[in-house]
Amino acid sequence: MVYQWYPGHMTRARREMEEDIRLIDLVIELVDARMPLSSRNPDIDALGRGKARLILLNKADLADAAANQEWCLWFEAQGMFALPIDARINAGRKAIQEKVALACQEKKERDRRRGIRNRPVRAMVAGIPNVGKSTFINSYAKRAVARTGNKPGVTKGKQWIRLGGDLELLDTPGILWPKFEDQAVGRKLAFIGSLNDEILVREELAVELIAFLQDAYPEALAARYRTEGKEAADLLLQIGENRKCYKKGGEVDLDKAAGILLEDFRSGRLGRITLERPQKGRDIS
Ligand code: G4P
Repeated sequence: MVYQWYPGHMTRARREMEEDIRLIDLVIELVDARMPLSSRNPDIDALGRGKARLILLNKADLADAAANQEWCLWFEAQGMFALPIDARINAGRKAIQEKVALACQEKKERDRRRGIRNRPVRAMVAGIPNVGKSTFINSYAKRAVARTGNKPGVTKGKQWIRLGGDLELLDTPGILWPKFEDQAVGRKLAFIGSLNDEILVREELAVELIAFLQDAYPEALAARYRTEGKEAADLLLQIGENRKCYKKGGEVDLDKAAGILLEDFRSGRLGRITLERPQKGRDIS
């Protein structure tokens, strides 16, 4: 199966991101904790050069807790700060603030040495579509005291949300697109539902997901569907039978069975699953 992305406003979004990033000190990059590398565009490393960097492993509630910790260590080894979060809830606010303070420490010290005091730290949220950027901005900035309007020296029309302490957050996130050269990346994005299912053959996708789960999380399949020891394609058939997905002629409706499996995975009903683990020695270029 060939995974494709229809670029739409890609170029414009990229240009806006390049403009906005010049105004800020800190890039808060959201990635999907279930696939932290495949859900980011590595171009952000060049775009964000010289900026403080915080990676939020969002949707951590859906990802393997042990893998979340491995990934945090991996990103920190690349010189970034990292934290697993669930953007829908406000509970992680304090931990995020602590990481933001750590990430900006260097900049603040630089300012102090130059005699600059009380200059706010400016941050922007960035990430690929559907990773939770709007959810994060809404929940994190919920208690924001003020939205700041146009200011001298700040690009006209930009809205900043003033957060506790001296942090200002750009209210529109930077959008980047995932890198599609690698089909494995496309497949994982399709698994999590970040590609339009209509352009995919769900049955094929489900069989690929089953094969991955049999290898990495066999107990998840057994627990949910009471299945064991079958080829991935046979297993999909069995799921269809168990869930009584039949076509009019009595044949198993594999597309429907695939839909059930994909939805169970995406909603976390199959358990907390991470699709990729950090590979030793692999660095962000
Ligand atoms: P974006 O701005 O980056 O494009 O993403 P957005 O905030 O729109 O979030 C995309 C989807 O991901 C939303 O679900 C949102 O609720 C969900 N989401 C965001 N953060 C988390 C998280 O930490 N954990 C989980 N489990 N889900 C999260 P949706 O189905 O599009 O909408 P809805 O179900 O909220 O109505």
